Amino acid sequence: MPSAVVVDRQGSIGLVTLNRPERHNAFDDVVIGELTEALRSMEGEDGVRAIVLSAVGKSYSAGADLDWMKRAAAYSKDENQRDAMALGTLMRTLDNLRKPTIARVQGNAFGGGVGLVACCDIAVCIASAEFALTEVKLGLIPAVISPYVVSAIGAKQARRYFLTGERFTAADAYRMGLVHELAGDEDDLDDKVGSILAAVLQGGPVAQREAKDLIRSVANRPMHSEILQDTADRIARIRTSPEGREGIAAFIEKRKASWVPEAPNPSPES
Ligand code: COA
Repeated sequence: MPSAVVVDRQGSIGLVTLNRPERHNAFDDVVIGELTEALRSMEGEDGVRAIVLSAVGKSYSAGADLDWMKRAAAYSKDENQRDAMALGTLMRTLDNLRKPTIARVQGNAFGGGVGLVACCDIAVCIASAEFALTEVKLGLIPAVISPYVVSAIGAKQARRYFLTGERFTAADAYRMGLVHELAGDEDDLDDKVGSILAAVLQGGPVAQREAKDLIRSVANRPMHSEILQDTADRIARIRTSPEGREGIAAFIEKRKASWVPEAPNPSPES
């Protein structure tokens, strides 16, 4: 049986692809385990600078596998909680990756599929895709994905879409901030993801890791003296780091910084 999660590399880009099209890339305990492991292993590979999370087939992901959810309902309380934690851990792992992540959304995303998109740093989506947080229609709630989805679309939008389970369009997702760009077709999707990757590769890898950590640290926190001190400490530290020195020197000397690739970047064709 083909693996439900395919891992590949294209130059310095790590490609993680959901490959369960016959189930619309729904994820059960096995897929969750494979996906979590794939993301962790990409994080650990020195040569990988950015990770693209793609899918094959008609849908990006139909979220949690409902057969798996049904089985879990018969588990003991402890087993059920352990099982739910696995999905929560997948979302947290993706959200917490230190490398830049891009969702290449070629089709519809429902439930946990929306969670995956929300957990990536950048999302590019085909304009015909639709999204929905359908959980309440199934008598469920979008629990473990909620911190990431609410952070992406805001509480007011979540109040509508968590409560109604209505479908919303890619244009709505763009307007709400869930996705950054819309593409007309799959070629355009690859072009747009490719140019974002090209931009990502211009940045210093340590600086990008620090930038992600910075966002986590300041997001949704009121400004106060502790943040002033922390942000000043961060820039003081990074501008004296080897990467900070190299970046400034490269600019002044009108040359490419050491981390910028010579060759043009690939577009992550799936
Ligand atoms: N879990 C398990 N299986 C799923 C699934 C899910 N989340 N979503 C789709 N599938 C399966 C279907 O059961 C079906 O299996 P079968 O061929 O053995 O009958 C197969 O995928 C094809 O789905 P089907 O509904 O026939 O295709 P469609 O094109 O008409 O509709 C969807 C596709 C994704 C719109 C529809 O299946 C759907 O609404 N799925 C549920 C999505 C959802 O609410 N996810 C959130 C879960 S919390």
